[in-house]
Amino acid sequence: MMTKEQVIKVLKNVNSPEAEEIFNKADQIREKIFKDEVHLRAIIEISNYCVKDCLYCGLNRENKKLKRYRMEREEILKAAEKASNFGFKTIVIQSGEDPSISSDFIGEIIAKIKEDFDVAVTLSLGERKFEDFLKWKEIGADRYLLKFETSDLNLYQKSHPSLKVASNKRIEILKNLKEIGYEVGSGIMVGIPFQTYESLAEDLMLISELDLDMIAIGPYIPHKETAFWRDLEKIEIKEIERTTLLLISLARILNPTANIPSTTALSVLDPKEGRAMGLKCGANVVMPDLTPEPYKSMYEIYDGKTKSKEWDEEEQKKLHQMLKEIGRKPSLKKGFRISRQN
Ligand code: 5AD
Repeated sequence: MMTKEQVIKVLKNVNSPEAEEIFNKADQIREKIFKDEVHLRAIIEISNYCVKDCLYCGLNRENKKLKRYRMEREEILKAAEKASNFGFKTIVIQSGEDPSISSDFIGEIIAKIKEDFDVAVTLSLGERKFEDFLKWKEIGADRYLLKFETSDLNLYQKSHPSLKVASNKRIEILKNLKEIGYEVGSGIMVGIPFQTYESLAEDLMLISELDLDMIAIGPYIPHKETAFWRDLEKIEIKEIERTTLLLISLARILNPTANIPSTTALSVLDPKEGRAMGLKCGANVVMPDLTPEPYKSMYEIYDGKTKSKEWDEEEQKKLHQMLKEIGRKPSLKKGFRISRQN
């Protein structure tokens, strides 16, 4: 077990022999638990409307330049069918925090997807009412994804200016979701302005304490139409990509059986290598974006996210080729956290 001070020290020295050891150990643990299998989850971004004011995110409500969309039921189901036909065993229904999407609408989508396809359904719709979570679980949703972003309550408040007090209710929500039977995913961003090494070490402790089924750790990527664009010189974390990878490795060592994605943001920051690097540092999951155009290009959380093209045979082949090159293969199972029935 590492102390907080030791974690801080290695995060500040991502090229040290100690860091190298951590990368290796994480990969060994990943291999022992998951062998060569990688779980593929298809994301469908059903709406880019958002009521939140997150200063790091391009979907924030103040961004008037962004054209907003909500996908229709049939469009969502068509995208789900495509994902299922490509062999994806999990479909992630994701959106900005959009309370105008009714819980019944989501409920119908869940029911229809579960009825028509042999897949797990993950929801990633931000903060909603407890009764919505409960209803969607009863209908058949399997997992919920909600990043707490940072455990540093002052930083959380600073990046959400409408918050009256330094608090983060997502941590409480995660506990509730777990209690009502969801597999729960959460995580953080690495390198947002004002974030410190100490807070990253604390994030890692909180991640492990919450005993998450899925852990998402991604690099911060600036977006012009956000307030944090003006605070980029306040970024304290050096070597954000490598620091992200090291945190993925540490998360793996502390949480051997958790599903850990090589995050999309990693692949955007480093289009050639990012995804493979995550998988080599302890990650065992990849989550490609199967949102159809024109919507995919409009889901602009950060700059560059939309440069890749719509999912097709060629993209699928590229992904499988990459996995092959690093000695992995796509899993044919739904990829629940091990110890549960797959
Ligand atoms: N860079 C990287 N990730 C971001 N997110 C939001 N904005 C950014 C950004 N600029 C992530 C957050 C959030 C999700 C919508 O995307 O973790 O939970």
